[in-house]
Amino acid sequence: MRNIIVSILALCLLMTGCNSRTPQYRIGVSQCLDDAWRQKMNYEMERELLLHPDMSLSRRIAYGSNELQCAQIDSFIKERVDLLIVSPNEAKQVQPAVTRAYRAGIPVIVADRRVPGDEWTAFIGGDNYKVGRLMAHWVMEKWKKRGTVSKPFVVLEVAGLPGSTPATLRHKGMMEGIEEAKEEGLAAKVEIQSVMGSWYKENAHEVVSEYLETHPLPDVIVAHNDLMAIGAAEAVAYYQTSHLKSQRYVPIMGVDGIHPGLQAIVDGMIECSATYSSRGDMLIDAAAHILHEEPYVHDTVLETALVDITAAYPMLKQVEAITRDLETLHIVQTQAESKWRQLRFDRFILILFVVFFFILFVITLAYVFIKQRKIQTEIKHDIIPQLENMQEAIQLSKKDEAFAERLRQVVDDYLTDPNLTVEFLGSKLQLSRTQLFRRVKAVAGKGPLDYIRERRLIRADQLLHTTDMTIQQVALELCFSSAGYFTKCYKEYFGHLPSAR
Ligand code: FRU
Repeated sequence: MRNIIVSILALCLLMTGCNSRTPQYRIGVSQCLDDAWRQKMNYEMERELLLHPDMSLSRRIAYGSNELQCAQIDSFIKERVDLLIVSPNEAKQVQPAVTRAYRAGIPVIVADRRVPGDEWTAFIGGDNYKVGRLMAHWVMEKWKKRGTVSKPFVVLEVAGLPGSTPATLRHKGMMEGIEEAKEEGLAAKVEIQSVMGSWYKENAHEVVSEYLETHPLPDVIVAHNDLMAIGAAEAVAYYQTSHLKSQRYVPIMGVDGIHPGLQAIVDGMIECSATYSSRGDMLIDAAAHILHEEPYVHDTVLETALVDITAAYPMLKQVEAITRDLETLHIVQTQAESKWRQLRFDRFILILFVVFFFILFVITLAYVFIKQRKIQTEIKHDIIPQLENMQEAIQLSKKDEAFAERLRQVVDDYLTDPNLTVEFLGSKLQLSRTQLFRRVKAVAGKGPLDYIRERRLIRADQLLHTTDMTIQQVALELCFSSAGYFTKCYKEYFGHLPSAR
C-alpha cells in the first residue's frame, strides 16, 4: 500500500514537472573570492542563466585559498559537472586542478585570471597588461603636471596577490609603460615603490599605513583594484589627520570601475579607475555554446578604459538605475517564481485528485467485473444445472402424469376382463415387463399386479355402493377367484369387510 501511495505521488510529481524544462547541464563555478566585483560577475551569470533553462549553476568560493579552490575543483570533477568555470586565485597553484578537470574531459572556461599552459577550453577576461599601461599613462600625466622638480616622483603601487595573473600583468604593464617613457627621455626620476594589498581593502589600508610610518607621502598611489585604492585613501586620510603633517593631495588610481570605485571617485576619495569587465553573461553564453557543441571564441580579451570624475558620475547614475531595474526585475522574478510554484502545487493537487479518482474508478470497475464473473460462474455451475434439473423433473412428472392417466385408463377399461394380466397390460402400453414394473412403481408406488388389484377393489367398492349386486357377484365381475379371496383383499385395502347395499 505504501508503495502504491509513493508511486502515485511520484507519478503526480512527474506529471506536474513535465511541462517545466528541467536543467540538463550542471555547471560548476569556482570563484577565488567573494568581493563586490565577483558578486557582480555572479549576478551577471545568474541573469544570463535565465535565458538557458537547460543549464544550472553550482557555485563554490575559495575565499582566497589555493588549497580550498583546488579541493573544490576536484569535488566538481568527482561530481562530473558538465562544464567548469574557474576564476583562479593564484595561477600556478590552481593550474594543476584546472588541468585535472580538463584532462577528465570536462570543458573548462577560465575566467578573468589566466593559468599557465593551454589545457583549458576557453578564456574570457580583461586585458590586464593594458590596464597596467593605462596606469603608466596616468602616472606620466601626473608626473607631467608636477613640472620639473629635482626630487624623484614617487609612485606607490598597491599590488594585488603576487601569484595572480592580474597582479603580475598590471605590474608588468605599468613598469614597461614607465620604462618606455623613460627611454623617451621622460620620467627619468619616476620611482616605483610597491606594497602588497592582496586585493583586499583592509590589507591595503594596513600596508599603506605601515608604509607611511617610514616614508614621506608618495606623489601618487596606484592600486591594482578600487577596493585597495579606497583602503589606501583611507590610510592616507588617517595619516594626515592623526599626524597633522602635509595636507598635500595624493592622487589615487584604482582598477575595476564598478560601484564602490565609481562612488569613491564621485566622493573625491580616489581620482580615477580603469574599467575591468566581469562579463558573467559572456561566460554563460560561452558555456552554452560549448555544451551545445556550437562554435565559440577560444580566447576573449575584454577592453579597458580610464574612468575619471567626468565619466564616473554618469556611470554611477547608470549603475544605480540598472541596479534599481535589476532589483525590480528580481522582485518580478521572485513573484513569478512563487506564482509558478503555486501553479505547480495546484496542478499537483489536481493531478493527485484525478489520479485518485481514476484509481478509484478502476478499482470499482474491477470489483464489478470480478463480481459479475463470480455471479456468471455461479449461474453457470449452480443455478442453470438446478433449473435444468427442475425442468427435467417437470418434464418427467408431466410424462409420468400422462403415463399414470393412460395406465389408469387401460386398467379401468379391462377391470372385468380376466385377461387383464401383467403381460396383457405390458403389451397394451407397449412396454417390456421390467419397463412396465419400473414405470408403474414410479407413478403408483406399487407393482402392476397390486395396481390392477387396487383398481378392481375401488371399482368393486363402487359397485357395492351403487348397485344391488352381491359380494359374490361383484367378486366374479371383477375377476377375483372367489368371494372369500375378494373379502380378504377388500379388508386389507379398505380396513373393513365389504358390505352390499
Ligand atoms: C576581484 C578582483 C578585482 C580585480 C580582479 C582581478 O576579485 O580582485 O578587483 O580586478 O579580481 O582578478
